[in-house]
Amino acid sequence: MYPLRRNRRLRTSPSIRDLVRETRLSPDDFLVPLFVAEGKGVRDEIASMPGYFRISLDGLGPEVKALWALGLKSVLLFVKVPDNLKDNKGTEALNPKGLMQRAVQCVKEACPQMLVMTDVALDPYSSFGHDGIVQGGRIVNDPTVQVLAEMAVSHAAAGADWVAPSDMMDGRVRGIREALDHAGYTEAGIMSYSAKYASAFYGPFRDALDSAPVAGQEAPADKKTYQMDPANRLEAIRETRMDVAEGADMVMVKPGLCYLDIVREVRNAVDVPVSVYQVSGEYAMVKAAAQRGWLDHDAVVLEQLTAIKRAGADLIATYFARDAVRLLS
Ligand code: PBG
Repeated sequence: MYPLRRNRRLRTSPSIRDLVRETRLSPDDFLVPLFVAEGKGVRDEIASMPGYFRISLDGLGPEVKALWALGLKSVLLFVKVPDNLKDNKGTEALNPKGLMQRAVQCVKEACPQMLVMTDVALDPYSSFGHDGIVQGGRIVNDPTVQVLAEMAVSHAAAGADWVAPSDMMDGRVRGIREALDHAGYTEAGIMSYSAKYASAFYGPFRDALDSAPVAGQEAPADKKTYQMDPANRLEAIRETRMDVAEGADMVMVKPGLCYLDIVREVRNAVDVPVSVYQVSGEYAMVKAAAQRGWLDHDAVVLEQLTAIKRAGADLIATYFARDAVRLLS
């Protein structure tokens, strides 16, 4: 005897499956990370991120227009800073004519409605490759927060709609909120990387920006004193709740796929939008396996993004945004 309920009835045909699907992806779900470099006509493919490029400002306008035409409404900007401009305090980060500031202006000129989010952290500007200032072999919290707050104001002054602190210093959301408000940028939003883990999946990103921590005597070789231990779950809730209390408009869990349990718990714990960053290493794994013919690229991309959304992501920062839009249309 079969049971009266047969669950397969709801899976019989594409039509019924479409009707009862619980999670749907749309272009509105995605934030598009972009890597910006100095120079002219630059379009360098990142070795560990096939199909992803560092582009110079002259290519940035056309790029964001193309993204907008696809229905993608937000970019998350990262810059590759020339080595000679790096120092311990991230001085170049505050340059009103710095690459990030010019990149923001460039996007806004090319596509005024495109939402511009900027990465706020010192690592691309740091001679040590750290997100904060190094003193006596340690990453010092409060002096770093001071610089991050100034950096956020500088980005808002350039026209950024949102700032996205990815550094994991304590108290930086509050520091940034107060500085933005004080400078009159009350409408600039904060998307804080609240539960950001000390993950090995950031490798390709550090290749893209040449921003890996520099091993040596003077500074720690990794980011474990500020990014979270992958073993911890409660800490993610605590970090996220504190960021909301400090004024974060949106929070983030990062990386994505290995941390979907955290995504769900964070989604249940706070009442602001939750974004998830599907990071560079996640992108690289799919590309590498697909290139060898070991995985069906398109199917895996959609399955992973669907899983991230099902886990509780309201927004997903992903290098697959273009692929996803193509596959959804
Ligand atoms: C830097 C930053 C990192 C990423 C986003 N912002 C790297 C890091 O913390 O070392 C990683 C994104 C990715 O891997 O795609 N603050």
